[in-house]
Amino acid sequence: AERPYVPAVVIGSGYGAATTALRLGSAGVPTLMLEMGRLWDTAGADGKIFPDMIQPDHRSMWFRTRTEAPLASILWLDLVNRDIKPYAGVLDRMHFDEMDVYVGRGVGGGSLVNGGMAVTPERDYFEEILPRVDAEQMYRRYFPLANRMLGVNSVDRDWFEQCDSYGYARLSRAHADRAGFGTTFVPNVYDFDYLQREEAGEVPKSALGSEVIYGNNYGKRSLDKSYIPAAIGTGNVTLQTLTRVRSFRQEADGTYVLTTERIDELGEVRGVGEVACKHLFLGAGSLGSTELLLRARETGALPELSGELGEQWGPNGNVMLGRANHPWDTTGLVQSGMPALGIDNRADPVNPVFAEIAPVPAGIETWASLYLAITRTRERGRIEYDAATDSARLRWQESQGQPGIDQAKAVFDLINRANGTSYRHDLFGDTRAFENRFTYHPLGGNVLGRVTDDFGRVRGYSNLYVTDGSLIPGSTGVNPFVTITALAERNIERVLAEDF
Ligand code: FDA
Repeated sequence: AERPYVPAVVIGSGYGAATTALRLGSAGVPTLMLEMGRLWDTAGADGKIFPDMIQPDHRSMWFRTRTEAPLASILWLDLVNRDIKPYAGVLDRMHFDEMDVYVGRGVGGGSLVNGGMAVTPERDYFEEILPRVDAEQMYRRYFPLANRMLGVNSVDRDWFEQCDSYGYARLSRAHADRAGFGTTFVPNVYDFDYLQREEAGEVPKSALGSEVIYGNNYGKRSLDKSYIPAAIGTGNVTLQTLTRVRSFRQEADGTYVLTTERIDELGEVRGVGEVACKHLFLGAGSLGSTELLLRARETGALPELSGELGEQWGPNGNVMLGRANHPWDTTGLVQSGMPALGIDNRADPVNPVFAEIAPVPAGIETWASLYLAITRTRERGRIEYDAATDSARLRWQESQGQPGIDQAKAVFDLINRANGTSYRHDLFGDTRAFENRFTYHPLGGNVLGRVTDDFGRVRGYSNLYVTDGSLIPGSTGVNPFVTITALAERNIERVLAEDF
């Protein structure tokens, strides 16, 4: 069969990939993006593209027979999850021994399913985790660029104070305040003007319609509304969906040859093919890109790849927890699925916690205040290649999550004490109060300056690059996508100037 050739291939379509594709296309480089998920642009039988969290259907998850939501239960009852038909749905929960990883599947990657929180990290912490990156340049140029390109905006403060959408956040703020903890407004890529009109009943509901982790039908500027149409608009970028890159090798003349597998939306394999390119960019996410490189090294295709591959993996210190409110402290039936406020204890050297005040978009009063705490510890795991299954294995022990739990507990014990409240023990399928056996924020595996050079060029080979969250060693201290985007902007600018 004919083996197509393109100058550049980008694997994936999340933050790193989309950024890279736009800049390649703008520079006139013909580029092919390969994404294993589908393009989410067509309404289903219900007239909507994505299902909500109350009645999730086949579109919700990546080839499952039952949904696997982060809040497994309410009052220990299995009210949340639903039986579904296997389909190329938008959210995947990758299972490993002692840690699960949530990722988005589809054109836009994690941007389709995430909470949209667009947080620029504190400069001193950024300098600590990525000391070889010129922070001055990042904060002057690339963070502002990423924020602008992503369409980041902030909630109107006056509206916030009197709206229904954030009653739950104001309650948590008052509770934090009683314990002496401050809060910070969190910018978002969700259009807050749209949210205001949702609350006013003028437009279809999305953030107020229990839409988050299985996609948002309106209001959210996911990558398929920002970077990706801009990339395709250059006329140089093409997108191939439902195409998974299985492996790649390098030929004697330096050409990379990728083996791809095309499926249909029901998972039927439609064909296996090859595509060749000169420049290859890996943007398949922390687990995805690391798996591809590990497979290439361990099968002998690219034996010179770094011995540090797979190292410095971390869950960004994610710890989820709920507090039980007093009966008179209702959080409301109307809750914006897009968080806008966080409890900010980052200045504390002992417990530097940033806790997003999360909604419980259950459509019923649950008397729960929910939080996704981002804690900071030095615990790191490792991604390994398992030859028997030809796939990545995540080495992370549950005990490694304990220091993060201790940090979150130190903060929330004080909040509970000041308010006479306690933890919820009914939300995570068993009786634990702190859930960190899953992460939304997988980071690391191909760390910048170790597995790659200081601009994401993979060591040992030329014209091979990593461009996603795997470059960041395990932690950003805040929600990571702004950092991933800004770093990708920085790296591709240098690569375009020097390697093309
Ligand atoms: P990302 O994971 O986005 O994209 C990788 C893409 O590659 C995917 O589309 C995948 O399907 C594709 N792919 C993988 N392997 C492939 C292969 N072999 N072949 C072809 N394609 C392949 N962050 C934040 O900053 N604020 C927030 O509010 C949230 N909230 C949040 C909620 C939930 C539920 C989740 C799951 C995640 C978040 N996040 C978040 C995290 C954020 O979404 C995440 O950090 C980024 O999406 C990671 O971007 P990457 O570019 O690394 O890859």
